Amino acid sequence: MDQSTQIRLTREIFAHLDARTTAQADDVMYHATSAYSSPQRLALEKRILFREFPLLMGLSGQLPAPGDFLTDDFSGVPIVVVRDRKGAIRAFLNVCQHRGARLVDGCGHAGRVFSCPYHGWSYGLDGKLMGIPDQDSFAGVDKEGRGLVELSAVEQDGLIWVIPKAGAELDVETHLAGLGPELANYGLGGYHHHETRVLQRKLNWKIVIDTFLEPYHFGVLHANTVGPIFFPNLCLFEGFGPHLRETLPRRSIEDLRNLPEADWDLIPHTALVYVLFPNTVLVMQIDHVETWRVFPVGNKVDECIMYLDFFVPEPALTDSAKLHWDRNMDLTIRTVDEEDFPIGEGIQAGFASAAQTKMIFGRNEPALAHFERAINEAVDNAVRVTS
Ligand code: FES
Ligand SMILES: [Fe+2]
Repeated sequence: MDQSTQIRLTREIFAHLDARTTAQADDVMYHATSAYSSPQRLALEKRILFREFPLLMGLSGQLPAPGDFLTDDFSGVPIVVVRDRKGAIRAFLNVCQHRGARLVDGCGHAGRVFSCPYHGWSYGLDGKLMGIPDQDSFAGVDKEGRGLVELSAVEQDGLIWVIPKAGAELDVETHLAGLGPELANYGLGGYHHHETRVLQRKLNWKIVIDTFLEPYHFGVLHANTVGPIFFPNLCLFEGFGPHLRETLPRRSIEDLRNLPEADWDLIPHTALVYVLFPNTVLVMQIDHVETWRVFPVGNKVDECIMYLDFFVPEPALTDSAKLHWDRNMDLTIRTVDEEDFPIGEGIQAGFASAAQTKMIFGRNEPALAHFERAINEAVDNAVRVTS
């Protein structure tokens, strides 16, 4: 985020503090609960949002060297992302072209080739089929045409993007709808991957993202944890196409009133929450970056799985540094897991009662309304095009 944006946002925060207001949507929004409970709706989301949109796969720091790879399955197709021998990021369907075995698991370092664990076919990091044991038994097989199926992958400004559909074009700049330069400004490529945790919970995947999108609940649900650090019910909101930035000021921001504007540094005094549409929440915390990548589980409307990744400015090489970030991560997980997710699971369970067909987003919840509206629009547009 550049300095002029930091100054603009800080001024807006002070204006809201002085007037005891917050960013407001134009109207109250009534949102159909079927968005979270309808199997038909989930099927559309899986087909459209998790196949046709660029998905964030991670930050560059997860794959620092040629041969480093990670696998990613939760979009519904098995993907392997690798840094090839020339240093470029490539993505492939994680499926051997002999009889379809899963080529690699987890994450790590592949060396020169991926070797299939079933019969030993091997593939270069560029996806080319390199070796077939007992080659004579496969006479006539076109090796050139039997490489791994490649997916569009782009590494830009420290972010790694993939579209999980073979043949799709990936244009990150267009996808980010103007948010790109702001993200580039954070130098995300310089962050180091600290840890990944995988959490699976009984709630619709969008409810996890909703959790991040309003501080209206801070003074009540988080009264004894993170609530006192922030101003409850005060946020800024800005949309970038379907993406968004929500700025949550910490109480410490009052310190900036005593400094000249040129010295205002917003980042230590906020949590900056970005939704990278459709399924990632990226949070710039004071001293680290978190990403939450959330996916539905199978065809279950009421279950989701998410990767929480922590990225830190310097690698944690000492025991005390590791302990510091481990504690930080534990606190993050405890807050959402002990406070937000139980509420979300209760909401999900309540849908079965049909107590309400529409929930209400107040004007003080503009980021939430923007996200859910963007999901509705993306699904509706795709349905309109194909019908
Ligand atoms: S399925 Fe991979 S080598 Fe046979
Ligand atoms: Fe919360």
